[in-house]
Amino acid sequence: MKDIYILGVETTCDETACSIVKNGRELLASVISSQIDIHKPYGGVVPEIASRKHVENIIPVLDQCLAKSNTDPKDIDGVAVSYGPGLVGALLTGIAVAKALAWSWDVPLLGVNHIEGHIFANFLTHKELEPPFIALVVSGGHSHIVLMKDYLQYEIIGKTRDDAAGEAFDKTARVLGLGYPGGPAIDKAAKDGDDQAFDFPKTKFDDRPYDFSFSGIKTAVINRLNTMKMKGESYRVEDVAASFQRAVVDVLVRNTIEAAKACGMKTVCLAGGVSANSLLRKYMKEEGEKAGIKVYYPEPVYCTDNGAMVAATGYYYYINGVYSDLTLNAAPNLRIDRLVKEASL
Ligand code: KG4
Ligand code: ZN
Repeated sequence: MKDIYILGVETTCDETACSIVKNGRELLASVISSQIDIHKPYGGVVPEIASRKHVENIIPVLDQCLAKSNTDPKDIDGVAVSYGPGLVGALLTGIAVAKALAWSWDVPLLGVNHIEGHIFANFLTHKELEPPFIALVVSGGHSHIVLMKDYLQYEIIGKTRDDAAGEAFDKTARVLGLGYPGGPAIDKAAKDGDDQAFDFPKTKFDDRPYDFSFSGIKTAVINRLNTMKMKGESYRVEDVAASFQRAVVDVLVRNTIEAAKACGMKTVCLAGGVSANSLLRKYMKEEGEKAGIKVYYPEPVYCTDNGAMVAATGYYYYINGVYSDLTLNAAPNLRIDRLVKEASL
């Protein structure tokens, strides 16, 4: 069978990224230009700045990616792009570039869902991995437990009712003065902290047992810090970080393992920026082993936003003939339950 080469373009938030992937699993090149340092002084991503930086960065990133991969543009079979969810101004840059390339190379344009893309990052690291499995997708904007029944077939098993897990990390880190992005900062600080020092709430819903709520934990941290400050009590930032992280990770692991058991799945994949978290990776693996469930996660660099996950997803769109046309537009609120193939329960 002929080898299939897909170019993946990613500009949903603050990473400008391109990648070329062969046959959905073999990474030929991946270039990521992160804007983290640019947004750091503002304590979060400034959408207008992000849009402008994508415009500046996308062509150099694309050129580097093509050069690194040693691929001739005429060998590219399709151009994949995340068309949502994300920041509208940021998304438009990637979409415009992907459309121009697909049109000029005369190959299919493949508009993929960014959340779905995070799941596909697992296939790059684990060549033997196949659906069905349960995926925990936890990023700055999303927290979902997804049953991936087959390629491009999904069912939402649980989701956050308020903040995303990464958002809770980012907001809590800001309160603790740990800076942006909060996830890696809390992960680091927590290593020197006592995770039993504070007892933060772990929300569970009786009606939807796999759903999450993270705004309560964040508020509990803020209230606890205010109370201690008012009373003149001292505390260690590391202990707060460790106790917060433990509470979030406990809930993520509990709900995911319970969902896998309920769906009869023996495989769990982690995805999204928060899946780079060292405690989440360790604890999910341990709890998975106890339950006879194998746990996979991508290399840390492919947990956060990148073009390789987009190209890997695009391959499966390509071989299934799911093409976009040149009217493809940004879908800032694109949901994972509005995917290409509706799952049949
Ligand atoms: O997937 P991603 O790059 O962007 C979105 O699609 O949202 O995820 C970014 C999120 C941020 O909230 C960041 O704080 C979090 O992932 N994150 C982490 C870690 N590394 C990144 N959260 C916890 N622990 C980490 N090590
Ligand atoms: Zn993402």
